Amino acid sequence: MNKEEITELLSTDAKNEELFLCADKTRHKYVGDGVHLRGLVEFSNICKRQCKYCGLRCNNKNIERYRILKEELLECVQNAVKLGYKTIVLQSGEDEFYTTEKLVDIIKEIKKFDVALTLSIGEREEDEYREFKKAGADRYLLRIETTDRELYKKMHPASSFENRVKCLEILKKTGYEVGTGSLIGLPEQKISSIADDILFFQELDADMVGIGPFIPHPDTPLKNAKTGDFILALKVMAITRILLKNINIPATTAMETINPNGRIIALQSGANVVMPNVTNTIYRKKYEIYPGKICLNDAPTKCRNCIESKIKSIGRYVACDQGFRKK
Ligand code: 5AD
Ligand code: FES
Repeated sequence: MNKEEITELLSTDAKNEELFLCADKTRHKYVGDGVHLRGLVEFSNICKRQCKYCGLRCNNKNIERYRILKEELLECVQNAVKLGYKTIVLQSGEDEFYTTEKLVDIIKEIKKFDVALTLSIGEREEDEYREFKKAGADRYLLRIETTDRELYKKMHPASSFENRVKCLEILKKTGYEVGTGSLIGLPEQKISSIADDILFFQELDADMVGIGPFIPHPDTPLKNAKTGDFILALKVMAITRILLKNINIPATTAMETINPNGRIIALQSGANVVMPNVTNTIYRKKYEIYPGKICLNDAPTKCRNCIESKIKSIGRYVACDQGFRKK
């Protein structure tokens, strides 16, 4: 599909049923019926950036900040490993407290558990990305958020689009499995630019793509903006599956936040990954990227069991390997 064809498909709802079915078949054919679970540790909500949509932006004073230090972080990971997680995702705001040295140390400790490790800690320097990889990190998540440069500038006053792309290219070159993705429904975002996002994923040869609807946060400049459309986000995800075939695609938490059955619907429209939260309950409320996040009062064990029964209810199963991209 070229840009015009993708734009057209995104602009009509007439072919939705066919589109979701085709994405589901593509998912079945290329990555099978196993659903990979990734245990997400939200280890710091401190961030130096100012993304206009994000509740963690440094300008938000209405949030209690926290950092989980090494020992407690490793307990979290150990707990996740006990629950059967084969991949750990470390996510945080862009927090310079975690120096290369501190992170390398944490990465090495986590790798002793024999799990795949994903980092999602934002933009760093090339040599840092290299050090993390050398220490054992396997994957890196860095969404492009939008490929519309003008919109990118407006949404990210403290960042540069060029550097974002550069980081993704460096991560690829360094040998990571690279995850990227977009927000759907940002103010002034055009359908044609979403088509460009999908082509960008293809061009980068992304190994993972996470798509989520934009959800306005009351303590950000976008508090009065409209919530992104669930069906549109689902369509972007489905087209991404059809075009990129064998990649990993999460059913995102943001989808479930705006639709009570969002993750299951996503799993039936191209997704094959879920990233349950394994952070201790005391921190969850404070990691408020957007409001209404699911499972805020639930413990890691509950989320693990809940998602497994949902997965089984649609005839799928929890995969027991580390879930690298199937080449
Ligand atoms: N609504 C939905 N998703 C958001 N993210 C950040 N803020 C919001 C919001 N208000 C997403 C970004 C980021 C990921 C960790 O969370 O896409 O990459
Ligand atoms: Fe933290 Fe955007 S607000 S990276």
